[in-house]
Amino acid sequence: MKKIAVLTSGGDGPGLNPCIRAVTRRALKEGVEVFGVRWGYQGLLDNDITPLESRDVSGILGKGGTFLGTARCPEFKDIKVRRKAIRHMNQRGIEGLIVIGGNGSLAGANALHEMGFPTVGIPASIDNDIDGTDMAVGVDTTLNTIVDAIDRIKDTASSHQRAFLIEVMGRDCGYLALHSGLAGGAELILVPEREGPDLETIDQVVLDAYLHGKGHCIMVIAEGWKPGTRAVAEHLLAHRDDLGFDVRVTVLGHVQRGGRPTVFDRTLATRMGARASEALLNGDSGVMIALRGGKLEYFPLVEAVKQLKPLDKVMLALAEVMD
Ligand code: ADP
Ligand code: F6P
Repeated sequence: MKKIAVLTSGGDGPGLNPCIRAVTRRALKEGVEVFGVRWGYQGLLDNDITPLESRDVSGILGKGGTFLGTARCPEFKDIKVRRKAIRHMNQRGIEGLIVIGGNGSLAGANALHEMGFPTVGIPASIDNDIDGTDMAVGVDTTLNTIVDAIDRIKDTASSHQRAFLIEVMGRDCGYLALHSGLAGGAELILVPEREGPDLETIDQVVLDAYLHGKGHCIMVIAEGWKPGTRAVAEHLLAHRDDLGFDVRVTVLGHVQRGGRPTVFDRTLATRMGARASEALLNGDSGVMIALRGGKLEYFPLVEAVKQLKPLDKVMLALAEVMD
C-alpha cells in the first residue's frame, strides 16, 4: 500500500486528534502517503480529502475535538452512495482507510470492508458502548470531566442541604453514569440496563440520606434511563417538604464531549492509531483495534457492531453497596 486515508465520524470526543496524529506519523514512517478526509463519510462523498504531512498533525496532541471535523451522514448506509466514496478514493490511488468513531461509524467501516475496500476501525466514543474493547478513545477524559462536575456540585449541594439530579450522556448505555457515579460517590445511580427503581424507592433514598445526616444526596442519571430525569425531578419537587432536601437538576450535556484529553486517552489513542496503520499496511481489513486486558488485539468489525457492549454486572453490584 502506498496511500491510505483517515477520517473521524459520528459524535466527537477527546482523543481524536492524538489518534489522527498517530495514524499519520506511523504510516509516514513506512514511506506511505496519508490523506485526511474532512467531515467524516460526508468528506468521502464530497471529495474533501487533503494530504497530511507530519507537520500537519503537530500541536494537536492536547486539543479536544477533531481537526479533520466530523459529521453524521445517514445516506452512507446506501450501497450506491458508498460506491461513490470508494470511487473517489480509487481516483486518488488511496488503497486503504482508517475510520475513527463509534458504533455507527464502525458499521460504515465494516460495510466498506465487505465491499472489498481495505478498512480498519478504531473505537472512539465517549459512551464506551462498543463491544469487544474494554475502553474506547475519549471515555477516560469524559469520565474525569463528569467526576469533576459531581465534586463541584457536591460542594454546593452540601452547603445548601440539597438533593441533585445530575444527568450524563451515554445514549442507550449506562457506562458513564455507573462509573462516574461510583467515582463521584453518588447516593443513587440510574442506568437503562437495570429497570427501576420506582419513584417511591427514589424518595426513600433521598429520605435515608437525610436521616443518616448526609448534607447532600447526589443522584447520577444516564440520559437513556426511563422514565427520565424530568419525571424524577417533578416527583421529588412535589414531595420536597417530606424529604428533607430541596432538589436541583443539572444536565451536563456537551461539556462532557470537549476538553483536553487525559494522559490515558492520549496514550490509548496513540497506541490504537499506530496499530491501525500497521494493520492496514500489513494487509488486514475488517478489524477494529481493541483494548482487551491491557493489550491491543484485533476484533472483527462485524462482531463489534452486532450489539452494544453490556454493562459490567460486578461494577453494578459494587455501586449498590457504596451508597
Ligand atoms: P457513532 O459512530 O458515534 O455511533 P452514528 O451512529 O451517528 O455515530 O454513525 C455515524 C455515521 O456512520 C452515520 O452518520 C453514517 O454515516 C455511518 N453509518 C452508521 N450506520 C451505518 C451502516 N449501517 N452502514 C453504513 N454506514 C453507517
Ligand atoms: O454518542 C456520543 C453522544 O455524545 C451520546 O452520549 C449522546 O446521546 C449523543 O452523542 C449526542 O449527540 P449530538 O451531539 O448529535 O446531540
